[in-house]
Amino acid sequence: MEDGGDDELESWLAGREGFDPSASFVDQANVADPGIYAAFAEEWPACWEAAAELLSWGRRWEAVLDESDAPRYRWFVDGRLNAAHNCVDRHVESGLKNHAAIRWVGKRDETLTYTYGDLQRETAAFAAALRELGVGEDDVVTLYLPMIPELPIAMLACARIGAPHSVVFAGFSADALATRMNAAGSRFLVACDGYYRRGDAINHKGKVDRAVRRVDGDVQTVVVDRLGEDLPHSLAAGQHDYDALVERHRGATVEPVIRDSEDDLFVMYTSGTTGQPKAVRHTTGGYLSYVAWTSRAVLDVKPDDTYWCSADIGWITGHSYIVYGPLALGTTTLIYEGTPEYPEKDRVWELVERYGVDVFYTAPTAIRAFMKWGAEYPDRHDLSSLRLLGTVGEPINPRAWRWYHEHIGGGECPIVDTWWQAETGGMMITTLPGVGTMKPGSAGPPLPGIDARVVDREGAEVDPGEAGYLTITRPWPGMLRGLAGDDDRFVDEYWAPYSDPLADEWVYFPGDRATVDEDGYVTLLGRVDDVITVSGHRLGTMELESAIVGVEGVAEAATVGAAGELIAYVSTEQGRPGDAALREAVVDELRRVVGDVAVPDHVVFTPELPKTRSGKIMRRLLEDIATGEELGDISALRNPEVIGELRARLAGELQSYLEPG
Ligand code: WTA
Repeated sequence: MEDGGDDELESWLAGREGFDPSASFVDQANVADPGIYAAFAEEWPACWEAAAELLSWGRRWEAVLDESDAPRYRWFVDGRLNAAHNCVDRHVESGLKNHAAIRWVGKRDETLTYTYGDLQRETAAFAAALRELGVGEDDVVTLYLPMIPELPIAMLACARIGAPHSVVFAGFSADALATRMNAAGSRFLVACDGYYRRGDAINHKGKVDRAVRRVDGDVQTVVVDRLGEDLPHSLAAGQHDYDALVERHRGATVEPVIRDSEDDLFVMYTSGTTGQPKAVRHTTGGYLSYVAWTSRAVLDVKPDDTYWCSADIGWITGHSYIVYGPLALGTTTLIYEGTPEYPEKDRVWELVERYGVDVFYTAPTAIRAFMKWGAEYPDRHDLSSLRLLGTVGEPINPRAWRWYHEHIGGGECPIVDTWWQAETGGMMITTLPGVGTMKPGSAGPPLPGIDARVVDREGAEVDPGEAGYLTITRPWPGMLRGLAGDDDRFVDEYWAPYSDPLADEWVYFPGDRATVDEDGYVTLLGRVDDVITVSGHRLGTMELESAIVGVEGVAEAATVGAAGELIAYVSTEQGRPGDAALREAVVDELRRVVGDVAVPDHVVFTPELPKTRSGKIMRRLLEDIATGEELGDISALRNPEVIGELRARLAGELQSYLEPG
């Protein structure tokens, strides 16, 4: 596919060009009636019964929404259900027993298929094992596992017995794990011995052992043996082999524990503006209804599909759209342990072809990598099984959108650019693929039943095309219910800024800047706070910077995300050169304190960081320098001479990065 001319590109960039879904897509779409927007608006909040009705309930709710203690909203009040029953058992009972629930592909191309029947047996056995270790209802179980089948099995086993899980991304450090376990008061951990990276055996259990020593109280740890002979490990007191435990409970029936709609299904730690991660609480009824509904309406998931979301289950995207949403709908969800470029750069497309993937959902950072590698890799494979594509995590630039559309979607598949966050539980702003026109670069209109507005500092709606703060003006079933252990922070951080307590009007503030066009399409412009998203991972700049300044020789640090890469600008103490040794120390410290995800793509040493006259580091400027953007207003900058210096150093850094050694 040739690139279009400049004019065409211009109109893409302006976001004016729209794409309508094909008639054949619309014909088969789960949601194809444009009237759904008006219907949801008229029937709000009762419209959300449509989401709850996708699930099976032990007791139906008395009221859809209770607003009496706003912003502590309650959904599907007094309803009772169990999430594992909804994701597994009910499908077994309704004829999907032998239908594939999970297809797993490991890093060494091992493959496994779990039918819904298998999944029921595995989760019941592991649920019984957790009980044997003493896990009771409402005990938080921490899961620290890579993308292996035991992770969703453990999540569902927890859900089965009413124990909220807290999944900690396997790339996080021992420190990060211990901090999260202590904050959650979690005394149960499920982990593994290690995993493969590019064919090498990586020791994970070392991190587990270090973390457990730092957790207050006795911890019971279950260890999955992923590596076998490749990395033998031993078990200490309080550590149990997964297989041996499960073997003891084979054939156990563990009745799903019936939970209140508002009972926690899980907590998820996510980065905030301060150094301390926040524990977002998601509930059984509202969350599960919402992810099932959005999987159905936006991802167009059908039971006969093979659906693939390439996120890691350790993040919210994996929770909502690898595990809970797809399994609630009885589809086949593909779980891929590996990376997209190993053993070859056509790995993803090879798997799409092999499994006849119908719906593929990934992040813009991955699409940009595919684009860089070139169309020859997807061109090697038959991708005609694909019906719908999706993206999540950051804005997708029109050029990448178009490449995805042409080279992966064959010019046919609609693309849903889905804006949402860990706190929202599920998608909030995106086109309905069977209904709306897609505009590359814009996420789309708010979903039916979602009321999103872009406002200025005073809370007044901005004109089309003007930048402002994104707000959500009505609650929704998938919303977080609070921050575990920090109720005040929940209200202050998300609900205070534009809320008028006297008028009893609460507005949710996600922390994103946006514009909205005449058609009500929202284009996201980035975060307002100090949170950066790199490769779909959300990191707090405070967390990163406080780790870096802990290194001897470092004076100050500022971290920014630019084009999906993490850049650390580091000023050194007087007389201390920014050399390879210091760079290594910075990287090691980030790895130790935060984890592998925090290893920067570039470290740029500089004598000084750009600061405002009031002494604040100008992060926006550092971002613009990194992306080569025109610099915005720099009148507040105290030390403008630093700009040229930084540009030169960044260029040098990029050069040495391109030509290592
Ligand atoms: C950003 C990931 C633009 C946004 C599901 C949000 C996006 C943060 C998009 C949440 C999108 C997510 N377009 N920006 N389609 N999706 N974001 O909690 O800044 O890891 O607030 O959830 O990612 O990141 P989180």
